[in-house]
Amino acid sequence: MNATAIAHPNIALIKYWGKRDKKLNLPAVGSISITLDDLFTETTVSFKGDSESDCLILNGRRASRQQENRVSNFLNIIRRKANIDCRAEVVSRNNFPTGAGLASSASAFASLALAGSQAAGLSFGPSQLSELARRGSGSAARSIFGGFVEMIKGEKADGSDAVAVQLAEPVFWELNWLVIITTEEEKKIGSTDGMSFSEKTSPYYPVWIDESKKDIDEMRSAILNRDFPKMGDLMEFNCMKMHALTLSSRPPVFYWNEVTLAIIHLIQELRLQKIPVYYTIDAGPQVKAICRPNDVDRIKEGLETIPGIKKIIKTGLGQSARLIEDRK
Ligand code: DP6
Repeated sequence: MNATAIAHPNIALIKYWGKRDKKLNLPAVGSISITLDDLFTETTVSFKGDSESDCLILNGRRASRQQENRVSNFLNIIRRKANIDCRAEVVSRNNFPTGAGLASSASAFASLALAGSQAAGLSFGPSQLSELARRGSGSAARSIFGGFVEMIKGEKADGSDAVAVQLAEPVFWELNWLVIITTEEEKKIGSTDGMSFSEKTSPYYPVWIDESKKDIDEMRSAILNRDFPKMGDLMEFNCMKMHALTLSSRPPVFYWNEVTLAIIHLIQELRLQKIPVYYTIDAGPQVKAICRPNDVDRIKEGLETIPGIKKIIKTGLGQSARLIEDRK
C-alpha cells in the first residue's frame, strides 16, 4: 500500500485570505492562481500494518512534532474515507528551498492528498482530490490542477463545493514568473495565523469580502482574454488589499522588508520604461513578478541593481499533480 506523487506550488493572482470555517478549512473568498513549472514536491506514502505511529521524513530528515501532527491529522481524514486504521510513513522532498516563500504547503498537501489517497486504495478524481487537499492547506486545493486555476469559495456547510477548477491549460498563455528571494529566514507569522488576525481585528475585512467576487470575475475574464495589463493591474490591486488587511490588524502584521519595497519601486520604474511586469507578494517578504518571456532578461538586469536580493528563480506554467508513473 504505497504510492508516490508530485505536485507544483502555485502563486495566487487573487488571494485566499480568510476562512469561513476553520475545522473544514473553508475559504471566505474565492482565489485564482497559476501553477508553477520546474519546482515541485515529491511525496511517497506507505501505509504499514506494523507501525505504532505516523512518521514524516521531510527533505531527508525526521520532521518536527508539529509538522508530523499536521500530517497525521490529514492522514486521519484519508483513513476515515478508506476505512483503514494502519499508520503511514510519509517521505516528502522539495526540489526548491523550503522556507523560500514559495508556498511549499500547497505542493506538499496536493502531493500528499494524491499519494495518500492512492496508497489507501481510494481512486479520487481531481475534484475530490482538490477538496481533500484543501483540508491540509487552502492553497493546496489549487495545486491539484495545472495552468490557470480558480478556487471556488463554495456555499455548502460540508465544504463539498469548495474545490478548485482549471480555467486554462499551461499552454494557453506563455508567461514567466520571477520569484525574487529577499531573505532565507523563516517567516514569523504564517498564513493561517495572519489571516485569523485579519478576520478578527481588521476594520477593512468586511470590504475585502464584499469586493472579492468582483475581483475574481474580472481576473477570470482578463485571463481568458489574455489581457496582460488588466491581469497585472488587478493582481497588484488585490495583493495590496490583502496587505492592507494585515497592516490594519491589531497588532499589525508586516510581511515585507526593505528589499521587498525596493523591488516594488523598480517594477514601477520598469513599467514607466514600457516594460510590462507586475508583482504580487504573499505572507512573506519575497516578491513574485510576472512578465512575458521576451522581457525576462531586461527585468533581471534591472533587479540585479538592487542590493540584498538573495536569488531569482525563473519559471513558467506547470502541470497538474500526478502519480510518479505519469511523470515522464
Ligand atoms: C497569502 O493556504 O497557506 O499565500 O489554508 O491556513 O494553510 P491555510 O493557508 P495557506 O494560505 C495561503 C495564503 C496566501 C494567498 C494564496 O495563496 O491564495
